[in-house]
Amino acid sequence: MSKDWWKQTAKGVPHMVTETPGPKSKTMHNNTIRYMRGLSGQVKLFPVCFEEGYGITLTDVDGNKYLDFSSGIYVTSLGHAHPKISGAIAHWAGKLMNAHDFTTPVKEKLLEKMADVLPGNLNAVQLYSDGTSAVEAGIRAARAISDKHEFISCYRDFHGKSMAAVSCAQMVRGDVHSYGPTRAPGFYMVPRPDPYHPLWTKADGTIDTDMYIRFYEQFIQEGTVGNVAAFVLEPVQGWGGSIFPPDDYFPKLKKLCDEKGILLFDDEVLAGMGRTGEWLCMDHWNVQPDIITLGKSFGNGFPVTAMVVKEEYADALDKISASSSYGGNPMACAAALASIEVLEEEDILENVRLVGAAIMKRLETMKSQHPIIGDVKGKGFLLGIELVKDRTTKEPFEEAGRLVYQKAFRKGLAWIPAGHILRMSPPLIMDEKYASTGLDLIEESIAEVEKEFGYH
Ligand SMILES: Cc1ncc(COP(=O)(O)O)c(C=O)c1O
Repeated sequence: MSKDWWKQTAKGVPHMVTETPGPKSKTMHNNTIRYMRGLSGQVKLFPVCFEEGYGITLTDVDGNKYLDFSSGIYVTSLGHAHPKISGAIAHWAGKLMNAHDFTTPVKEKLLEKMADVLPGNLNAVQLYSDGTSAVEAGIRAARAISDKHEFISCYRDFHGKSMAAVSCAQMVRGDVHSYGPTRAPGFYMVPRPDPYHPLWTKADGTIDTDMYIRFYEQFIQEGTVGNVAAFVLEPVQGWGGSIFPPDDYFPKLKKLCDEKGILLFDDEVLAGMGRTGEWLCMDHWNVQPDIITLGKSFGNGFPVTAMVVKEEYADALDKISASSSYGGNPMACAAALASIEVLEEEDILENVRLVGAAIMKRLETMKSQHPIIGDVKGKGFLLGIELVKDRTTKEPFEEAGRLVYQKAFRKGLAWIPAGHILRMSPPLIMDEKYASTGLDLIEESIAEVEKEFGYH
């Protein structure tokens, strides 16, 4: 199949035919929220009703065609309704939908393929159906491997909303705070380096990663009971606003973990499977984690996730059952297998590296021209723009974040807000032309907001 399968449909996108959200969207959304509550900010700020997605475009019920800069929510990374992936799911939907955790031909193939593409000896696998369940399994695995029970995670990390996953996470936005104490005993949070907001700096003003590591060392000594099973981290903070650590952070953290006999649990649910231009985001730093989780892009929209540990820890997985109602069902395995094959066949990593670099270059130019852009960040197709009221104080510009998000959406860009940090996660198949169209819409919206607030 040609890698241009999506291009014909993308012609002329975005193409808006009504005010948005349009009349049909409004009615359907209002009917929906009579029953369904607790929607994300992404939806609440732009309550449109989608009915079709193909490649890099999304179409709403009023016939408006949007350029996709969200991949759902980092999920449909190889494009909506990729013919090979949808075909593979449909094949198994018509043949065998569920066989518990029995072996199936497609599961055998998927596991062999995963062992082939994942770095090092990450090849002991359990399959689940959402990222949170995979993270929970990773926590069970860490306990089973180490016979220890404490966990350290980082401020503004996100790992899911079940009890152990949320204990490693900081729910910084929304109403979720109201569901009570969220940190289970033995789960701790520490700061991690955000280059734009460093806690510790060197004499030359650059971020001092050694200080973070020294703090962790002291924290392990003084703040735990000496029973730390794992550090649980996102390689890049997705929900936190596309925050990448400095390049020396993970190599130093891994060294500390090895010295202290602590496992490194790398949650790649959001950043993995090519989104940053490497199979795993952690590959950028040549660090081999002990445990990883995969989700979102892993099945290109079909609910399939994985928890993987290094081969030497495989026996520990026998102590934590892999049985799950949906995990590893034939449709799920087919979706994940076809997604990995597409990543290879369509040379997706190369596209992400090349187009991602062009996007970053453009973002840097935008930053030099727009006073409310405090920082731009990203690798590959995982990107963010941080809006500030003042570049000296770096005060978050939440209102501008909301307005820029809504304005660009109205112009036809489906994307993702995170307070004052705007997030971009285009499908990995996108070429430079459409990436540039999306950035034009963002830049126009930023300029309009700057004008409204008297910056020009
Ligand atoms: C890093 C990370 N881990 C875990 C999860 C939870 O995944 P899910 O929503 O599929 O349960 C998310 C969701 O956004 C995530 O970003």
